[in-house]
Amino acid sequence: MQLNVLTVPGDGIGTEVTREAVKVLEKVVSKYGHSLKLTDALLGGIAIHQTGSPFPDDTARKALDADATLMGAVGLPEFDNAPPEKRPEKGLLGIRKILGVYANLRPVKAWPALIESSPLKNHIVEGVDMIIVRELNGGIYYGTPRGIEGSGDTERGTNTMTYTRAEIARITRMGFHLARGRKKKLTSVDKSNVLETSQLWRRVVNEIAPEFPDVELEHILVDNCAMQLILRPKQFDVVVMENMFGDILSDEGAVLAGSIGMLPSASIGERKPNGAFVGLYEPVHGSAPDIAGQNKANPLGAIGSVSAMLEYSFGLKEEAAAVNAAMEAVLNSGRVTADLKPKGTPATTSEVGDAVANAI
Ligand code: IPM
Ligand code: MG
Repeated sequence: MQLNVLTVPGDGIGTEVTREAVKVLEKVVSKYGHSLKLTDALLGGIAIHQTGSPFPDDTARKALDADATLMGAVGLPEFDNAPPEKRPEKGLLGIRKILGVYANLRPVKAWPALIESSPLKNHIVEGVDMIIVRELNGGIYYGTPRGIEGSGDTERGTNTMTYTRAEIARITRMGFHLARGRKKKLTSVDKSNVLETSQLWRRVVNEIAPEFPDVELEHILVDNCAMQLILRPKQFDVVVMENMFGDILSDEGAVLAGSIGMLPSASIGERKPNGAFVGLYEPVHGSAPDIAGQNKANPLGAIGSVSAMLEYSFGLKEEAAAVNAAMEAVLNSGRVTADLKPKGTPATTSEVGDAVANAI
């Protein structure tokens, strides 16, 4: 199979972790007799520096042409005070939207070798295995009206959370389908005791439920969900929610996995004629400018994103499993980066990437 992959390393540690992810991708592709065509594009702060825009047209074109896109991270502190339109993050929102990747899958798994890395008690974390399904193309991130207007005491900031029935229905079906292939439990997160968007959300989810009689459905309010994720995370299998709730709760999920550096994500859209999903793959962690360029960052979130790409965009399940097994072998060896608090000297980013590639 020929894999046409666009790499978009972005800012900060994005460059370092993407390099290691590509190393692993190249290894798995050659081992299983596939061929790889890599293209590179700019996004985020580096794109602003080189082209004036966080999401250059050239990047949009390349992303639409590629079978799948592998992203690093965006964000640089120098843009902290810039308006949303001029920030690196705008590039990420742009590429998610143009690809139509409405379903962001964030698997949260407690790796046995990392139980001690979580600040939570072992018995709470052991056996955690869930997928957070975050709606990624709508909600308050994109809703209008938005902006800051006026001055003085009446200066006002506005954002709008809005969802259509169709948007809710497609992410709900994605959640149900995933649950069907796992432990057959779907939890829908909302704030229906306060928000109209959430009331519609809950109603649409309930209307779709009869299509999946084999899947158990429960609803939970977002504040309670934040608490349950720490108290009893094992109760969750697939957890579906709107965009901003998913942004917030998935960072909380990172604590269960030992480090946010561990979390991969797959953002998928419609199926293409060849059956593969349009996909954008990125680690959940950000650009971490404080440790950028030091060869310290954990590349496993990015490498796990390669595994997700192989599975969802190319249907290569065996190859994806090989990457997961290699990651597990490296975790078990204890040669991991500083965020995972290894007993001896921490491994570097490139050492971990080499070790995973060699274990395939
Ligand atoms: C994430 C990130 C992004 C988001 C930022 C960088 C725009 O926090 O992927 O979780 O809010 O979606
Ligand atoms: Mg986030």
